[in-house]
Amino acid sequence: MEALLRTLFQSFAKSQSVGRMARRYGLRFGASRFVAGETIDGAIEAVRALNATGRVATLDHLGEFVSTEAEAELSMRMCLKTLDAINEAGVEANLSLKLTSLGLGISDELCMRNLTTILNRARLYGLFVRIDMEDFTYCEKTISIYKQLREQIDNVGIVIQAYLYRSIDDIENLKALKPNLRLVKGAYKESPKVAYPSKSDVDDNFKRLISTHLMNGGYAAIATHDSQMIDYAKKLIQDLSIPPDRYEFQMLYGIREDLQLALVREGYKVRVYVPFGSDWFGYFMRRLAERPANVWFVLKNLFK
Ligand code: FDA
Repeated sequence: MEALLRTLFQSFAKSQSVGRMARRYGLRFGASRFVAGETIDGAIEAVRALNATGRVATLDHLGEFVSTEAEAELSMRMCLKTLDAINEAGVEANLSLKLTSLGLGISDELCMRNLTTILNRARLYGLFVRIDMEDFTYCEKTISIYKQLREQIDNVGIVIQAYLYRSIDDIENLKALKPNLRLVKGAYKESPKVAYPSKSDVDDNFKRLISTHLMNGGYAAIATHDSQMIDYAKKLIQDLSIPPDRYEFQMLYGIREDLQLALVREGYKVRVYVPFGSDWFGYFMRRLAERPANVWFVLKNLFK
């Protein structure tokens, strides 16, 4: 049953027609637990509240695959507006974005042009930009774009997914660039040809990626809600005497708030991923797929 629900939500996440239908009803069905509103102002308010409790943030204007140049440019402009808003509000936050929203599915050149405009604006404000990792189709291209950029600038980082067989090699191949990597388990539906199908293998690989990357000397954003993985990372950080400016923990808005605050109390840097915007459906479906138990929470909200 759980596997079935997972597959169902993962297919919904990809479906543009289901997404369009759901968006018509606004942030409903419990999505507001995971999404900080549809506007920049709402998102900045959420960041202020996080900052007040000792957490920093990364803002993501929700939006994934676009099919026209005009849509890609619109996404780019929203990223610029988000950077402007972070700068004006003086909040502790940076930006996360998805390359398909900037036109990666249309052409590499279009995507690179939009991304460069965003990175230049971020640099002006001294802000960092994280490139999220999407499904496997875009992995190679995303890493290659990152490598080209990283050779020239340092306010950019990417994400490495523990469920992919290739990730350990990617970490080794990126080593010379002293990359800033967000390490995650991986949120998309992937074929067993490219990704570990079993959770225990993903967890083992996640630990392997954390230790390899920390030992290689780059900056590690350890992004998980899994207490076991967090405990593993904490012990490693202590054993290897990794200084606090070489790592942080990251979690998603609305998930494991207790754990986020406990880490802050222990003195760790915690960054919360704060998604906002009207294109919330795909993101919401992936959160349900991760934890089908959330369905009961959605059903309760349906009848509120
Ligand atoms: P796991 O799924 O094993 O969950 C561990 C525990 O966390 C659960 O038992 C539960 O208590 C809690 N939990 C996890 N998910 C929950 C949910 N949806 N609702 C309620 N509780 C939940 N992926 C990707 O492919 N590309 C990316 O760029 C990113 N970016 C990213 C940024 C940040 C800051 C985070 C935290 C995560 C991502 N992810 C991601 C998502 C990631 O790949 C993964 O799908 C989720 O983090 C869930 O995996 P966990 O590591 O939390 O472990």
